[in-house]
Amino acid sequence: MKLTQTPLNTFSITTPLYYVNDVPHIGSAYTTIAADAIARFQRLQGKSVLLITGTDEHGQKIQRTAEELGRFPQDHCDQIASSFASLWEHFDIQYDRFSRTTATRHEAIVKEFFQRVWDNGDIYLSQQQGWYCVACEEYKEERELAPGKLCPIHTNKVVEWRDEQNYFFRLSNYQKHLEILYQEHPEFIQPESRRNEVMNFVKQGLQDFSISRVNIDWGFPIPTDPSHTIYVWFDALLGYVTALLDPEDEPTLENALSKWWPINLHLIGKDILRFHAIYWPAMLMSAGLSLPGRIFGHGFLTKDGKKMGKSLGNTLDPVALVNQYGSDAIRFYFLKEIEFGQDGDYSQTRFIHTVNANLANDLGNLLNRTLKMAHKYFNGCVPNVKSQDIPQEDGLKSVGLTLTDTVTQGYDSLAFSEVCQAIFSLIQAGNKYIDEKAPWSLYKQGKQEALAQVLYSVLESVRLSSYLLSPIIPNISTRIYQQLGYTIDFNDQTIITTSLSFDIHGVWGALPANQPIQEGQPVFRRLEDLEEVSS
Ligand code: MSP
Repeated sequence: MKLTQTPLNTFSITTPLYYVNDVPHIGSAYTTIAADAIARFQRLQGKSVLLITGTDEHGQKIQRTAEELGRFPQDHCDQIASSFASLWEHFDIQYDRFSRTTATRHEAIVKEFFQRVWDNGDIYLSQQQGWYCVACEEYKEERELAPGKLCPIHTNKVVEWRDEQNYFFRLSNYQKHLEILYQEHPEFIQPESRRNEVMNFVKQGLQDFSISRVNIDWGFPIPTDPSHTIYVWFDALLGYVTALLDPEDEPTLENALSKWWPINLHLIGKDILRFHAIYWPAMLMSAGLSLPGRIFGHGFLTKDGKKMGKSLGNTLDPVALVNQYGSDAIRFYFLKEIEFGQDGDYSQTRFIHTVNANLANDLGNLLNRTLKMAHKYFNGCVPNVKSQDIPQEDGLKSVGLTLTDTVTQGYDSLAFSEVCQAIFSLIQAGNKYIDEKAPWSLYKQGKQEALAQVLYSVLESVRLSSYLLSPIIPNISTRIYQQLGYTIDFNDQTIITTSLSFDIHGVWGALPANQPIQEGQPVFRRLEDLEEVSS
């Protein structure tokens, strides 16, 4: 089983298409922040990037929610979809496509895809009996259920018995193909623990799954039998394909697949792994399409060590959080404090402590004290030092020269926490370096050259650190760069392409000698432990 490679200079990445049964929750923000950081790092490296997000708007769950609220389903979807788009703006998410599964052009793609699978003989009509969780939009095996016929994921929702005629997809035909895929491409499912989980599941034997529903209007009709609607997951996964169309394109599979396909990375939470790592590649194989490069299933967030849930009354509202603390602090906390792939916890105390310690103290203070000295001793300019003249064994240069490689590997393997740790070890070394070298004494002793080298080394280390952190904290990085005398903005993609190239800015020593700098301003204001944010 060969995976087709996309060109090396392009990169396409998706978040899940979020259900619109409710306003965005922190889990959706978490995936989207991570996807944005990856996309930004790829752009920094000079690649053309397509970041796809969007909303999953069909199915019984949405239909019921709209009914309960007394809204037309489409009005309801429009309303919630716009609350996602607005939240992404607050979090500085630079998405390129917002895919909505109720879009007319999406219907054309779903129909064409369905027809291909149908023509391949992989769809048949049969009787479906089983326990259905509407919140998951998925049938559950009896053995999976929690006592009281509760869904194992939505532990406050009782599953519903169904006995109806459905169209089925012959997933069982793809068992061998999938096993070969996982074997030949160990990178296809990440992290390793999720790969094992999927392989164990597949080993037990795959059963065909139903891809149509009766008695539900809110969905696309099955092209060959309009008395059925297409199962929401079959429809939603194809939202990734529809998203690839340029706005002016006619909605055909050929057009959609002509530029960005196959997608490099699907970023998802662990609860929707089976759909992406089993159903999706099998559907694509059936339709004769090439497969995505990698599926990464991240862990779940808890709050104060407890599972979050409306019924538990301990949800974390992303809107309130970003309004109160701003996007950089939250992006930083979630990416630095949680090992990506593992479950992780949010606690207000740990959040405040982390961002104050790292962003305000370590990073902000280092910049501030060094800028002050550059004003005092070098007339408000970067000291006149050529980075080549600083000895290789200089405490900061030696770390700085290998940092970019470490960080690149970290971003490539989605190890955000390691990325942050590597960068903060340079920043912390910078603070120690100043204390040890005592520039104020060098000044008093008239050791001008040594003083210049010390301050250059620190300023340059702060610059490189902020460059490499920019995919995570773009606003703070922008403020640092501006105080170092650059007129740039890490949120401006044109400037990234034209003025912030990786070859130059990703290398220790890029800070131009004699560049005028600004007066130091706090790049991040310490957070007070305000009243707890929750919804
Ligand atoms: N609509 C489907 C996805 C279809 S993709 C073609 C869906 N939507 S969702 O809105 O329910 O879930 C969105 C994402 O949020 C999933 O990746 C899920 O893992 C993630 N999270 C939901 N709760 C979460 C936490 N408590 N923590 C982290 N992520 C969690 O599933």
